[in-house]
Amino acid sequence: MPQLSVVIVATDNEQRTVLQVLVDGTSVASTVHTCASFPLAAADPIMRRVDAAHPDVLLVDIPSDNPAPAMRAVELLHQELPDSAVFAIGSLNQPQIIVNAMRAGAREFIDRPTTTTDLLEAFVRLTTAQRRVQKEGPRGKVFSVVNAKGGSGSTTVAVNLALALQSAFGHTALIDLAPLGHTALHLNLKPLFTVADATRNLHRMDNSLLESFMTRHGGGLQLLAGTNAPAAIEPSTAEFVRLFDMLVGHYRYVVVDNSSRLDVASRLVANLSEFVLLVACTDVASLWSAARVQQYLGETGNRERVRLVLNRFRKVPGFSEADAENAAGVKLVWRVPNQYFAISSAIDRGSPVMEQSHTEIARCFAGLAQELTRDDVDVKRAAWSLFKTV
Ligand SMILES: Nc1ncnc2c1ncn2[C@@H]1O[C@H](COP(=O)(O)OP(=O)(O)O)[C@@H](O)[C@H]1O
Ligand SMILES: [Mg+2]
Repeated sequence: MPQLSVVIVATDNEQRTVLQVLVDGTSVASTVHTCASFPLAAADPIMRRVDAAHPDVLLVDIPSDNPAPAMRAVELLHQELPDSAVFAIGSLNQPQIIVNAMRAGAREFIDRPTTTTDLLEAFVRLTTAQRRVQKEGPRGKVFSVVNAKGGSGSTTVAVNLALALQSAFGHTALIDLAPLGHTALHLNLKPLFTVADATRNLHRMDNSLLESFMTRHGGGLQLLAGTNAPAAIEPSTAEFVRLFDMLVGHYRYVVVDNSSRLDVASRLVANLSEFVLLVACTDVASLWSAARVQQYLGETGNRERVRLVLNRFRKVPGFSEADAENAAGVKLVWRVPNQYFAISSAIDRGSPVMEQSHTEIARCFAGLAQELTRDDVDVKRAAWSLFKTV
């Protein structure tokens, strides 16, 4: 992720200092200039100084007791410096101020007291959005998978989805971020390296080093294996962002198995994902948990990306899919049939069901891969040209 330059505009001395510490603490941004007063007009010397700092982000602190001058500054900065993104800092308890700040041109409204994580997540959202616009070469897409509760089928879905994407489109990686990684077992692989090795070496990471940490599966899928010791040291969130930046620069599809992992890192990965697949079964406890997980992930603006995958699906009289969607508060994207024998023996043998072509369950995961890539222009073209040459 490129380093972002930030200008802080805050009239309160203490708040200005706090914001500077928080910005620099994200490791993905640095403060290049601070202002102790709000600019009043385009010709204000403050504007010239801000402009000269070439900021990617303008952090404007909105005092709760007198928001009007700050709001004018947001509007002015947004108009005069269209290449910089304005982030407003204020209290989430004042809805009218949030609305006004967004209307004035703020791109983000961040709660006060602010945390480094709040800022980091906002910075990640900005660079992800900019990347989409800039088209700096093809970037891969991330699909992350999380379960409503342990045993719902996150690892099964992640492994088979990754195999389906690999077989249809190639260049796919599977990243195991689960608290205890099971994907290598599902794939009968014996990895030499894990995610921890990759994150420990981020300072010298390039494509060939990244590849050397991956374990190759027969069909071409590359696995960045998970931890085999639950007490392993967790990488910092900034390191996670860097790792994913490298991954999407290198692979066409990146599937992440989060299983039961619910922390700042998994939320960041959700921020970077095209879709977050929330795997749940149709029992009450599972759907209740799904709603809680959705709420947690949704707090950082991921709500519209989360999709429900109903696993071990069986038609139950009197219970519709709409009931499941309503209970979980998530739009349904796919159903995986209940096939305990096929799936559990596939896991025991280390030969995923996706490899048993022409079975209903393999077709199901191939269908999920097609559904998630429906809007990918380059994928469609590839499928079309394949069709033409056969
Ligand atoms: N569609 C399914 N039908 C029947 N059993 C399943 C299905 N998917 C998964 N299972 C069973 O559930 C168990 C837990 O699945 P797993 O993918 O490890 O869940 P998670 O990663 O969410 O903890 C597996 O061992 C498997 O036997
Ligand atoms: Mg799992």
